[in-house]
This record gives sequence, structure tokens and C-alpha cells, in this order.
Amino acid sequence: MAAEPLIYDLSKPERRAVRFPRPDVPETDLPGDLCRDSLDWPEVSEIDVIRHFTRLSQKNHAIDINMYPLGSCTMKYNPKINEAVARYPGFAGIHPDQDPATVQGMLELMYELQGMLAEISGFAHVTLQPAAGAHGELTGVMVMRSYHEARGDTARRKVLVPDTAHGTNPATAIMAGFEVVTIPSDARGNVDIDRLRAELGSDVAGLMITNPNTLGLWDEHIVHVVEMVHECGGLVYNDGANFNAILGIARPGDLGIDVMHYNLHKTFSTPHGGGGPGSGPVGVRDDLAAYLPGPRVARTKVDGEVTYGWDQPAESLGRLHAFHGNVGMHVRAYTYIRMHGAAGLREVSEDAVLAANYLRARLRARYDLAYDRTCMHEFVLSGNKQKANGVRTLDIAKRLLDFGVHPPTTYFPLIVPEALMIEPTETESKESLDYFVAAMLQIADEAEDSPETVTNAPHRTEYKRLDEVGANRSLNLRWRPPAPAQRTPVAAD
Ligand SMILES: Cc1ncc(COP(=O)(O)O)c(C=O)c1O
Repeated sequence: MAAEPLIYDLSKPERRAVRFPRPDVPETDLPGDLCRDSLDWPEVSEIDVIRHFTRLSQKNHAIDINMYPLGSCTMKYNPKINEAVARYPGFAGIHPDQDPATVQGMLELMYELQGMLAEISGFAHVTLQPAAGAHGELTGVMVMRSYHEARGDTARRKVLVPDTAHGTNPATAIMAGFEVVTIPSDARGNVDIDRLRAELGSDVAGLMITNPNTLGLWDEHIVHVVEMVHECGGLVYNDGANFNAILGIARPGDLGIDVMHYNLHKTFSTPHGGGGPGSGPVGVRDDLAAYLPGPRVARTKVDGEVTYGWDQPAESLGRLHAFHGNVGMHVRAYTYIRMHGAAGLREVSEDAVLAANYLRARLRARYDLAYDRTCMHEFVLSGNKQKANGVRTLDIAKRLLDFGVHPPTTYFPLIVPEALMIEPTETESKESLDYFVAAMLQIADEAEDSPETVTNAPHRTEYKRLDEVGANRSLNLRWRPPAPAQRTPVAAD
């Protein structure tokens, strides 16, 4: 079979996919070198473009194709209404430099979203600026640093991080200038209280905890843990990546947490991945609001008339994003929250937790379960049993691709050997959960009866095993078109 053509191979002079509308302003030349003839664009028709990108999209997996139970990532279905609303011209067609008087609707939406996130999580104030969970972490830890500095408490150089944490937590603390001390977990998957106590002191800026944690477990001592950190003068940061488990059930602010980020792309169904625009707002308790990045949207009421504008927190640590964050994501999250309402959000979490416990109960006889207790919205299996037959977790993950299912997160959290971290989310039906169980049970059988079926997988995907380490080590983020002489024009009629 001939190699699949690149879009450049389809190029034919003068072929066009786009016709520009007749201009309604006088035509003028672009100044200087803004217009370059040297750019080598493929000249293709609309159908060429559509087929090219549709073909490309079929080579990858997406939540719009089938289940995507990637633990900790909450790859929930993104309702299409989010996209429809984000494309309203009044949202999509505005510019961040516009006079606030001309974008009152957008500002009102952002103001309301700040309030909704604060209400759902129990915090007093929220910034919408950060562009991802990790960016929110950096914002939150910088707020913690500003707080200690403002009090002249500059000896606090350590941030405590449990051993189940996502890698971004210690990386963030180090980027913000702190030293990281790892706190082990106890036998039930909670933060080990004795080890925590041993590390607490006047040199501790705070604890970065993830609750529910990345084992999918609620920390049974969370209130005590928070009290212990506060008693020593530290602050508690909650990594809110797992907020999907507790919407409408528990509010981190009520538990005494001081700072938390939200991953809008996990919990509030904004698009996830591809490195595209994300959003990781941060909520803080009242007295930390002064340090938040600015400007933030503010509301004023004069003589009964409400207007929205910008406000700079008094001791703001400055901007952490150009303009006001990725506002298209704010529109989508706002839509999702309004569509569900309070009761609907609670149902989201209840269904997410139910789905995870259903899978856990159905798979525990055939796979080792790292921590055998009721889980939250995800749980962690271990492929140890299968490893005894030469089948590793990576093989199980690759075999799942043959069933058209994206594999769970693998080899994380680091404290579970051969980890398979499964998060089905609330949007999967009982039928798709059962399909996943059937696939996992078949793989468990194969690992015993015909291990090579698993170790040689995937069998049905277009690409087999990729050099993932190589791809990570030598990142190649820039694709250049082949020189014209190296192209293979598609045979003409
Ligand atoms: C527990 C946890 N914390 C933080 C992050 C970082 O979030 P983001 O990918 O939005 O930067 C993730 C991402 O997967 C996560 O799972």
C-alpha cells in the first residue's frame, strides 16, 4: 500500500480551501515584512483539508470515541453545549484590550464564575488567571510565600509534600524557591501522621496535599493534618485535581485548607490536553486575597447600577498570565456549572464515585488492589500478579488499546508497584463500564493462558509500540514541511 500522502503532497498551484469575504473596508498593503512570500503553504481544496485532518484524528484516541479512564486526569466528556456557548460572537469576538464598558457581559460571567468556584469549594476569593493546574499550584505557593514574607517569617524554607503527590507539586515548590520534604503514606494510604509531626517546625512554610489523594482515597485524618500544620504556623495547599469526587459533598475551605487550585479541564469539563489553552483558577481564604495575581474582576454598585471592572489586590504578586487568563475556558466552565446547578454537581461526584467503586469491586478478584478500601472517584490496581507471568502493566495498557479503550494512568502513583490508576468518571454508562471490565478480565485470562497476546499488543492499532522515552528525551515540537524536491505528488488523474 502506498504511504499516506502528507498535506504537502496534495498541493496543486492555485487550489484553494478558503474564499475570503469581499472586504468592507478599503484595501491597503500590509506594512513592511508582515507579508512574506517565502512562506511555503500547501495549496489544497476544502475536501483535502477535511480528509487530511479527519484521517489524522482517527489515528488517536479521544473521549468522543470511547472510554478514557486516565486516573487523576478526569478525562470526562465535554458537553457540546460548552462549545456552542463559547462561540457566541459576544464572547468569541471580543478583545482583552477593549474598554470594560464594552464587555460588561464577559466581565459579569467571569465575576460570577469566581463566585461560583468560591461557593463550591468554601473559599473567600478566587483568581481566574492561571492557565493550568500546575500554573495554579505555582500561583498558590507564591501566595503562601507572600503571606510568610509579609509577616517577616522568612525562615520558612520547607514545603512538605506527601509521597503520593503528582510530580508538579514538588516541582512547583522548588520553582517557588522552597525545599521539598517528602512525607510517606501510612498503611491505609493516608499521610503518615507521625512522620508529618516529625517534620513540622518553624522552618515549614506549608503542606501541599492532594485530597482525595492520587490513590483515590480520602485522607481519613485531613482535619487533624490541617490543624497540625496550622499549629506550627504553616499553610495548607490542596491540589484540587481530584475535586471531581467531592462537588456538593465537602468543601476544602470548610476543612481549614488555605489555598487550592481547580483544574477547570478536569472538574468543569473544559477541553483537556493537546497543550491547548487550559485553566487552573486558585481559591484562597479571606486574608490571603491581598496577594492574589491581578487584576481581578470586581463589581461595583452605584445608585443601584451594577458595573464590572478591574481591581488590583493590595499586595498582589503581579500578573501570572497575559490579560485575564484563558477566558474561553471560563465560558465553558460557567456553562457547565449553570447547566448542572448545585444538585447536578453533587450528582456528578456521586456518580463518579459510584462508577469507580463498581469497577473496583468487579476487578479486585483478578488484579491486586493496592489499598483495599472504599475509593473516591478513582482507584489504583497493581499488575503485580500478572508480572509473575511476564506481563507488565505497560503490556496491559497496550492490550487495552485493542479494545478501543484508552489505558488508565500507569506507573503512578510511584508508591504502588506496576500501578494502574483507573478513573472512569461519571459520564460512562453501566454498559461502557461493563465493557471495560470484560476487557480487563479477558486480559487477566490472557496473562495466564497466552501471555504473548498481551506482551505483543497492541495488535489492532495503526501504530504499535512507540519510543515513548525517546519522544520525551528528544522533544521535537516543530514540524517542517519536506523540501519540494522531497515530496511525492499524488498521481494526477
Ligand atoms: C493530582 C494532579 N495535580 C496536578 C496536576 C497538574 O495539572 P495540569 O495538567 O492542569 O497542569 C495533575 C495533572 O494531571 C494532577 O493529576
